[in-house]
Amino acid sequence: MFPLLANFRFGVTREARYWNLAAAPAFALLAGCGDAGIAAGPADSETGRWYSVEQVSAGEEVFAAHCAECHGDTAQGAVADWRERLPDGSFPPPPLNGSAHAWHHPLSVLLQVIDEGGIALGGQMPPFGTVLAEDEKLAAIAWFQDLWSDENYSQWLMMGGVN
Ligand code: HEC
Repeated sequence: MFPLLANFRFGVTREARYWNLAAAPAFALLAGCGDAGIAAGPADSETGRWYSVEQVSAGEEVFAAHCAECHGDTAQGAVADWRERLPDGSFPPPPLNGSAHAWHHPLSVLLQVIDEGGIALGGQMPPFGTVLAEDEKLAAIAWFQDLWSDENYSQWLMMGGVN
């Protein structure tokens, strides 16, 4: 137990270690449960994150076709202050580039937002559950997460990350 814990602590400051040593068992568990459909395995060797370079480039197309009209071409959001409600009481499309709070949500929640949208909750985002395939949704997430700084990404891992 002790060595594992030590690795975990170390991982909080050293992202690569965190992935290789601490996250691998979590991945194995996830794969076992068939949750969210994330490929099991340690961080991608090129990106150092859960996604591959191929997913990022596939995601660029998905995002441009389905998400950019609201969230902006570079996921910068639609307004100066995404926290301020619109006249109808709903919230504007927030930035997804790491500057708003998408990094508070683990992957399963990001997927759920994309699947269900926000209209049912009084928001404006349409549901994509049956519009996009699972790998397209994951690719879109990979694309906007690739805009995040390492700091944002580490914080995301600590807030639940790939769970
Ligand atoms: C019609 C405009 C619109 C489109 C198209 C759209 N969104 Fe959204 N999105 C929103 C709005 C508005 C919100 C805030 C919640 C709400 O009102 O539904 C939101 C919220 C989100 C959130 C939650 C962010 C957070 O910080 O909590 C994510 C993630 C997201 N969208 C991803 C996507 C992705 C990926 C696509 C493309 C597949 C997409 N959205 C397409 C308008 C849109």
